[in-house]
Amino acid sequence: MQYRRLGNAGIKVSVLSFGSWLTFGSRQAVEQSIECMGAAYEAGVNFFDNAEVYSGGQSETVMGEAIKELGWARHSYLVSTKFFWGIHGESAINAHWTLNRKYLMEAVDKSLERLGLDHVDLIYCHRPDPETPIEETVWAMSDIVASGRALYWGTSEWSADEIRAAWEIAERHHLRKPVVEQPEYNLFNRTKVEDEYRRLYEDIGLGLTTWSPLASGLLTGKYLDGIPEGSRGESVKWLQDLLTNPESNEKVRSFMAIADDIGCTAAQLALAWTASNTDVSTVITGASRVEQVHENMKALGVLAEMTPERKEAIDAIFA
Ligand SMILES: NC(=O)c1ccc[n+]([C@@H]2O[C@H](COP(=O)([O-])OP(=O)(O)OC[C@H]3O[C@@H](n4cnc5c(N)ncnc54)[C@H](OP(=O)(O)O)[C@@H]3O)[C@@H](O)[C@H]2O)c1
Repeated sequence: MQYRRLGNAGIKVSVLSFGSWLTFGSRQAVEQSIECMGAAYEAGVNFFDNAEVYSGGQSETVMGEAIKELGWARHSYLVSTKFFWGIHGESAINAHWTLNRKYLMEAVDKSLERLGLDHVDLIYCHRPDPETPIEETVWAMSDIVASGRALYWGTSEWSADEIRAAWEIAERHHLRKPVVEQPEYNLFNRTKVEDEYRRLYEDIGLGLTTWSPLASGLLTGKYLDGIPEGSRGESVKWLQDLLTNPESNEKVRSFMAIADDIGCTAAQLALAWTASNTDVSTVITGASRVEQVHENMKALGVLAEMTPERKEAIDAIFA
């Protein structure tokens, strides 16, 4: 495993990390989730990503159980969670699709209870909230960090302008600043990471924990001939059009030829491609089975193959 600083922050994250979206608490038995986390940790992963909304809180409960059962020393891993959607449904007007102070303060305590931890390492505003002033959210996130319930905070899928505005409010009031953004980043979605956020890397030292490196499995080539049984595509209906798009799958077919040429799997090449961007602090991987964790964790062995010529060939496919 390799480790990178989270932007300008003092902590280091493993270049490949592990998240629990659409797996923990929903599609996996608890034992499978624990097995996957254990395999990731054994491979050197030190960052485990979660969110309040994943499986309505169940994902945090399962991750908490895993941490307890695996018996890891607290200094050896980082855990995150994220807030925005809430888990009490639309009727909870102050705890649904919001970043207001009351919601954030109460939500973090409940997440800690589910995780069985006295602090999480990172908390994120899972989406921007146009109805809460950024200033209110910045004060709340900063206060949570100041209280010791979280150590760092950041955003997910905010615009560069929103992140910059939050940072400036924190600077002006001597508050804890956002240090990290969590955007989607894979061969089909590059604009935010490569263009929009570019000015923030040096300017405010923004770190990145990027998600869906395999575009939900599309980049593995498993959807070339339709939706395989037991896959994410089978269970998550709203992803089906994206995963079976013929044009995308033709690109994946050409991409697989490059992986063949190198002697790795398409999943490993896609992960290595993402990790080869050094603006990315960590690539959050996901897996429904432990075999996928074993395969994916070997991706850094392919990093040396990411030559400028190869990157150009990959760019040409996905242009
Ligand atoms: N901040 C946000 O808004 C946000 C949004 C999404 C995700 N995330 C975070 O990012 C993490 C990773 O996202 P993701 O799960 O979408 O990542 P991904 O790597 O794009 O997709 C992971 C899925 O692809 C399939 N897969 C993984 N490795 C494979 C392999 N070697 N061969 C074949 N299939 C393989 C598995 O699904 P099947 O086996 O079921 O097909 C697995 O669950 C999440 O767990 C979460 O922590 C954050």
